[in-house]
Order: sequence, then structure tokens, then C-alpha cells
Amino acid sequence: MSIRVVALFYLIISLLPFFCSNAYAADQGMITVHYPPDRTVREFGVLSVSLSVPEGSADLLKVIVNDVLRVEIKPERTFACFTVPIKLGVNTINISALKGVKQVDSAAFSVFRKSDLEGKFISPLPIYRKDNFHIKDNGKCAQCHKLEPVESDLKPFNGASIKGADKDREKALSATSTCYSCHKKITSYKYVHGPAAVWSCLSCHDKIAEPKYAVKKPDTEVCFACHTDKKKEWSAMKYTHGPVTIGKCAICHSPHASDYAFNLVKPTWDLCTTCHFEKGTGTHVLGDSIFAEGHPTRNRPDPMRKGQELTCASCHSPHTSNFPHLWAFDVNSLYEFCQKCHNK
Ligand code: HEC
Ligand code: HEC
Ligand code: HEC
Ligand code: HEC
Ligand code: HEC
Ligand code: HEC
Ligand code: HEC
Ligand code: HEC
Repeated sequence: MSIRVVALFYLIISLLPFFCSNAYAADQGMITVHYPPDRTVREFGVLSVSLSVPEGSADLLKVIVNDVLRVEIKPERTFACFTVPIKLGVNTINISALKGVKQVDSAAFSVFRKSDLEGKFISPLPIYRKDNFHIKDNGKCAQCHKLEPVESDLKPFNGASIKGADKDREKALSATSTCYSCHKKITSYKYVHGPAAVWSCLSCHDKIAEPKYAVKKPDTEVCFACHTDKKKEWSAMKYTHGPVTIGKCAICHSPHASDYAFNLVKPTWDLCTTCHFEKGTGTHVLGDSIFAEGHPTRNRPDPMRKGQELTCASCHSPHTSNFPHLWAFDVNSLYEFCQKCHNK
């Protein structure tokens, strides 16, 4: 045999394991992340991930988000789909595939969660880009998921949510919502907005919008379509709050769901002081008067609203008012204003 033939023979022998399914597991690149692409921008607190590993190549997938183990999946089929929580700013997602105790592959990517409310997170770092899932060819996903919306994705919204035990609810929702199979975690918070609670996603996300499912801007175009009573009431008022003037309802309210009453993105006091930082420092209302500790703005019962805590919204309307400083009460003077609570 010539030396070249021998060399070729050894080359083939040494490469053989890569072609045989089991041994090839030691190779890198088993994990294919289908979505999201590396370095995309997100706006909400949940991130959907879909990846695949060759059948039988791994018996456990571990998903670590910002150093916290979030998901462990036994890949029973080639596709593994899951949703993980993300924080504001940069999030790093590390996925490792294990066969027995041995790590056979790993993959990592990052996403940036932006927020128009939080100064530090308004502009994503320049290496991050917005990405629209629904304008792509998602044929791969269509093997198992329905992607084209149906009539029941636009339900009547009468405030009644789909009730019942968790299992029945889940069944009803998957049967009547195309979006549910992938986006189910978007409503997994304590307070769910009316139309999102019944998965009437298309009442705001138009399937013929450009890009697909984009919502109208400003938010008032979306919100006042249903909250017509508010539109009428508020447009008659003399003073309008800055963010409302520019139509940014969703800077304070999640259109889907949140952990705070009224689907606020933060508890009221934290929300207001994010923009009005100086009002949370303790000198507000009483200024430099003899009451050195200032006027409380939280952690006390609200004398005007039984069962609620004092917050900024106890004295100010977050939207509109007929009185300067957006006072929440119908009063003619500062004295009357103070008397509202201090005369009780
Ligand atoms: C082989 C079938 C299959 C394919 C292909 C598939 N999925 Fe899934 N996906 C599922 C199943 C089944 C579920 C239900 C989740 C579960 O309980 O395991 C699911 C759930 C999801 C979820 C919700 C996960 C959660 O728990 O919140 C998302 C998001 C998702 N898929 C996205 C995708 C995307 C994007 C694609 C295409 C890149 C895709 N899937 C392709 C079968 C598939
Ligand atoms: C196959 C799974 C799947 C189905 C079904 C699905 N989505 Fe999505 N959608 C995604 C993924 C993945 C993203 C990326 C954002 C994320 O992490 O949630 C996304 C993003 C979006 C976005 C942000 C814009 C974009 O294109 O990235 C909107 C809006 C949206 N989906 C609405 C819907 C609505 C409404 C439905 C039902 C009619 C629906 N989706 C059904 C997987 C799905
Ligand atoms: C009340 C109106 C409204 C309803 C109902 C609604 N959405 Fe949205 N959704 C919005 C707005 C507003 C945004 C922010 C869009 C933007 O800033 O471009 C948004 C954004 C999204 C995004 C993008 C998330 C991201 O991280 O960028 C997804 C995904 C989404 N919606 C899915 C859904 C699904 C699924 C439903 C049904 C349960 C639904 N929406 C119902 C108004 C709504
Ligand atoms: C498709 C109709 C629809 C659209 C569009 C809509 N809403 Fe709603 N909204 C509802 C329904 C229904 C309720 C539940 C009413 C109830 O329970 O009293 C609700 C409740 C609310 C509540 C809680 C009210 C309360 O008293 O607890 C807030 C806050 C709210 N919506 C804000 C918004 C914002 C902000 C937008 C725009 C991003 C918006 N809504 C768009 C239908 C809609
Ligand atoms: C600056 C933050 C902020 C903005 C912007 C904002 N809201 Fe609110 N909204 C709140 C807070 C805080 C509450 C709860 C008030 C309370 O505790 O009484 C609330 C309550 C509500 C409620 C239920 C209570 C009520 O007053 O009827 C609705 C409906 C609502 N908002 C809709 C909207 C719509 C529509 C827009 C856009 C036009 C909007 N909000 C803009 C902060 C905001
Ligand atoms: C997204 C930023 C933002 C948030 C959040 C916010 N505000 Fe404002 N606020 C503004 C802007 C902008 C103005 C207008 C400033 C100006 O005109 O000088 C304003 C003005 C005000 C004013 C003065 C109005 C006047 O005529 O003197 C009051 C009072 C006020 N906000 C209360 C609140 C309360 C209460 C909350 C929480 C429910 C809140 N703000 C949340 C941005 C915000
Ligand atoms: C006990 C009632 C009360 C509470 C609670 C309260 N305020 Fe005020 N606020 C006032 C009064 C009275 C004025 C007008 C007098 C003045 O200029 O200090 C005012 C004025 C303001 C102004 C406009 C004037 C300026 O200095 O720019 C803003 C903005 C404001 N408040 C924000 C807030 C925020 C944010 C909170 C919650 C941290 C809050 N307020 C809590 C009573 C209150
Ligand atoms: C929304 C209701 C509300 C309004 C309006 C209000 N306060 Fe208060 N105020 C409170 C609460 C609650 C406390 C805390 C009482 C306690 O600790 O028991 C307080 C405490 C005080 C204190 C500290 C002494 C004490 O009684 O504990 C002073 C002084 C005070 N307020 C003055 C004012 C003045 C001046 C105004 C008008 C500019 C005003 N308040 C408007 C609710 C209000």
C-alpha cells in the first residue's frame, strides 16, 4: 500500500466516530437554537426559546439564565420549547446538553430587555437588534404549532375570563387561541388585562398590520378603542399628565398582565418615583417646613380610599384632572385639599 492510501485509511478510521450516531455526540454543535437569534431586543419579562437536539443525543437539557438554573428538560422529542423570565438589560442564556453525567454540548446567547420607563434601559446596547419572529419563515415550527390565526383569536371581550380548574382552562385556551401554545406565559401574572385574560390577542394585534401583529401607535389608539368611557371623561379635563399627553399608556400599564393592580408595570409609588425621583426623597408636600420628616407618601392607610395604602395616586390623578398639579380631588384651594384627609 502506498503511504497515501494508508493515510487515507487512518483518516477514515479516525473520522468514523463522527458519522456513527452515538460517538458523534461528543462533537460540538448538537444544540440548534431556532429562536431567538443571538443579541435580540425584547420588551417584556418572558422570553420564548425553541431549540432542537438530534433524537437520543442527550437525556437532559439544562437552561441557566443569568447564572440561575431555570429549566431542566428531558428531550423526549427533537424540539424543546420553553419560556424563561428575563430581567431588564443584558440577559445571558446558557444551555447545556447532558448524556448521563457528561456534558456533550453547550450553547449560549444573549438578549437585551429594554424599557421606555427606565433611563438606563431605554436604548439597547448597539450590538442588540429588534427581531420580528412572525415575519420570518417559520415552517419548522408549523410542524407542531398552528401559526395562522383563527376567528376565535378575536373574542368578544366582556370582562369575563375563561374560568374553571387549571386543566380545563388550559384545554379551553389551547382550543380557542392560536397564540396560546407559544405565548401562554405572557399572562402568567397575578393581574391579567381583560382581553388578554380571554386570549383575544387579535383585538390589539392586527394580523394584517405591517409588520405582522404590530400594534397601533400611540397606545391611546389601541386603548381608547375599548376604554371609550375614559376617552370621553379624560378629554374633557383641563390638565393632562405628561406621558398621557403623548399617548404612552403602556409605559405604566402592561397591555397583557403584571404582578400589580391595574396591570401596572410597578407598584404605584415605585412607578411615579421612577420619573419623579425627587418626590420620593421625603420632603414632598411639606417641603422644608417644621415637619422635618416630611409628609408620608406611602406605608400608611389612605384616609380617602378604604382598604388601600397611601400612594402618590392618593393625592394625584395619574391621567387627568381639572385641578393644577393633577389633584385627585375636586377642591378649590390647597387648604381644602389638605382638609380632605385631615378633617376625617
Ligand atoms: C416537534 C414538535 C414541535 C416543534 C417542531 C416546535 N414546537 Fe414549540 N412546542 C411543542 C410542544 C409539544 C409544546 C408544549 C410545551 C410542552 O409542554 O412541552 C411547545 C411549546 C412551545 C412554546 C411555549 C413554551 C412554554 O412552556 O412556555 C414556545 C414558545 C414554542 N413552542 C415555540 C416554538 C417555535 C418558535 C418553534 C419553531 C422554531 C417550535 N416551537 C417548534 C412542540 C414543538
Ligand atoms: C410557533 C409559536 C408561536 C405562535 C403559535 C405564535 N407566536 Fe407570537 N411569537 C413567537 C415567538 C417565539 C416570538 C418572539 C418573542 C418572544 O420571545 O415571545 C413571538 C413574537 C410575537 C410578537 C412580537 C413581534 C414579533 O413578530 O416578534 C407578537 C406581537 C406576537 N408574537 C403575537 C402573536 C399572536 C397574536 C399570535 C396568535 C395569533 C402568536 N403570536 C402566535 C412564537 C409564536
Ligand atoms: C390591549 C391590547 C393588547 C392585547 C389584548 C394583547 N397585546 Fe400583545 N402587545 C400590546 C402592546 C401595546 C405591545 C407592545 C408593542 C410595542 O411596543 O411595539 C404588545 C407586545 C406583544 C409582544 C411582544 C413582546 C416583546 O417582548 O417585544 C408579544 C409577544 C405579544 N404582545 C403577544 C400577545 C399575545 C399572545 C396576546 C394575547 C394573549 C396579546 N399580546 C394581547 C398590546 C396588546
Ligand atoms: C379589546 C378591548 C380593550 C382594549 C383594546 C384595552 N382594554 Fe383595558 N380593559 C378591557 C376590559 C374588558 C377590561 C376589564 C374591565 C373590568 O374588569 O372592569 C380592561 C381593564 C383595564 C384596566 C383595569 C381597570 C380596573 O379598573 O381594574 C386597565 C388599567 C386597562 N384596562 C388599561 C388598558 C390600557 C392601558 C390599554 C391599551 C394598552 C387597554 N386597556 C386596552 C378591554 C380593553
Ligand atoms: C404615569 C403612569 C400612567 C399612565 C401613563 C397611564 N396610567 Fe392608567 N393608571 C395609572 C395608575 C397608577 C392607576 C391606578 C390609580 C389608582 O390607584 O387609583 C391607573 C388606573 C387606570 C385605570 C383604572 C382606574 C381608572 O382610573 O379608571 C384605567 C382604565 C387606566 N388606568 C387606563 C389608562 C389608559 C387608557 C392610559 C393611556 C391614555 C393610561 N391609563 C395611562 C397609571 C398610569
Ligand atoms: C414616564 C415618566 C413619568 C411617570 C412614570 C410619571 N410621571 Fe408624572 N410627569 C411626567 C412628565 C413628563 C410630566 C410633565 C412635566 C412638566 O410638565 O413639567 C409629569 C408631571 C406630573 C405632575 C405635575 C403636573 C402639573 O401640572 O404640575 C404630577 C403631579 C405628576 N406628574 C404626578 C405623577 C404621579 C402621581 C405618577 C405616578 C402615578 C407619575 N407622575 C408618573 C412623567 C412621568
Ligand atoms: C398628601 C398628598 C400628596 C401625596 C401623597 C403626593 N403629593 Fe405630589 N403634590 C401634592 C401637593 C399638595 C402638590 C402641590 C404643592 C407643591 O408644589 O408642593 C404636589 C405637587 C406635585 C408635583 C408637581 C409640582 C412639582 O414640584 O413639580 C409632582 C410632580 C408631584 N406632586 C408628584 C408626586 C409623586 C411622584 C408622589 C409620590 C411619591 C406624590 N406627588 C405624592 C400632594 C401630594
Ligand atoms: C390623601 C390624604 C391626605 C392629604 C390630601 C393630605 N394628607 Fe397629610 N397626612 C395623611 C396621612 C395618611 C398622614 C399620616 C398620618 C399618620 O401617620 O397617622 C398625614 C400626615 C400629615 C402630617 C404629619 C402630622 C400628622 O398629622 O401625623 C402633616 C403635618 C400633614 N399630613 C399635613 C398635610 C398638609 C399640609 C396637606 C395639604 C398640603 C396634607 N397633609 C394633605 C394624608 C393626607
